[in-house]
Amino acid sequence: MKHFTTVHDVKNIDSLIDDALLLKNNPFTHQHLGKNKTLGLIFLNPSLRTRMSAQKAAMNLGMNVISMNVDKDGWALEYEDGAIMNGNKIEHIKDAAAVMGTYCDIIGIRCFPNLQNKAEDYSEKVFIKFMKYCKVPIISLESATLHPLQSFADLISIKETWKQKIKPKIVLTWAPHIKALPQAVANSFSEWMLKADYDLTIAHPNGYELSEDYTGGAKITNNQKEAMLGADYVYVKNWSCYNEYGKITAEHNDWVLTKEKMKITNDAKIMHCLPVRRNIELSDELIDCSNSLIIKQAENRVYAAQAVLKSILEKENIITQKINHEEKLANS
Ligand code: CP
Repeated sequence: MKHFTTVHDVKNIDSLIDDALLLKNNPFTHQHLGKNKTLGLIFLNPSLRTRMSAQKAAMNLGMNVISMNVDKDGWALEYEDGAIMNGNKIEHIKDAAAVMGTYCDIIGIRCFPNLQNKAEDYSEKVFIKFMKYCKVPIISLESATLHPLQSFADLISIKETWKQKIKPKIVLTWAPHIKALPQAVANSFSEWMLKADYDLTIAHPNGYELSEDYTGGAKITNNQKEAMLGADYVYVKNWSCYNEYGKITAEHNDWVLTKEKMKITNDAKIMHCLPVRRNIELSDELIDCSNSLIIKQAENRVYAAQAVLKSILEKENIITQKINHEEKLANS
């Protein structure tokens, strides 16, 4: 793997899951891969799980880690090419990313959307500029449109808990929230479940349609009850409107997931990426019940990140060995 920004960067999803589960049993078996290598973790937005799990994954592989809150501790960045920088932006992304690339062997970036301009957010402008100028492998720690490390950890959590031969019925259900949130987790979850060839139903109130670029192939309904019938896994997540971009068009408090609504499922497991606003998105009793996979999902963030880092380090190792071999041949 060269970069990890979407499920499409993964050649073989089953073998990546197997690798993550092997690493979960034996986390320290590949420390030689990360020796003298540095992972840079660049945050333009807050994080608990992504920051700590990526750091732990890198340490398990013997890597060093440099973490920076660019939004708070760095210079204000300019992203426009050719900008005359006479305003409050101090450093151009061209220079900042190029410098970071000289300090780090792999860089992870978290960069949320502004939810004001759909075209700009969905072009992944900031992310692509980092990738272009830092010149080292890039891992998404959540971009404007996708959160692949979260979805990979979600898939690992399903694989670990589903013991039947037939594929499970998976439901992604919209939940209310007090703030406008990105579509990234929902887009990404849909992409990963479809790539894994799972039966995915997405339920949301009218107006909260996601982009078909990510959901094409899923069943989509505005009827939450119909979606929940016979579900094996229920993933709860809020997102703001994609069409009326970044808006919350109505509150829809009747979409809060409750114990009563779970009765028509197949004793479904409950999933959420965290952080969760308790008793707004779903009730305490569901978050804390024995069917909740929420803490397992967060734990599996470590092994998702570790499998991805391992795959990138292995590829980089092969490239380095090839260059060394060619140099040896040229000098002999
Ligand atoms: N789920 C997740 O990405 O959590 P953080 O925002 O805390 O990293």
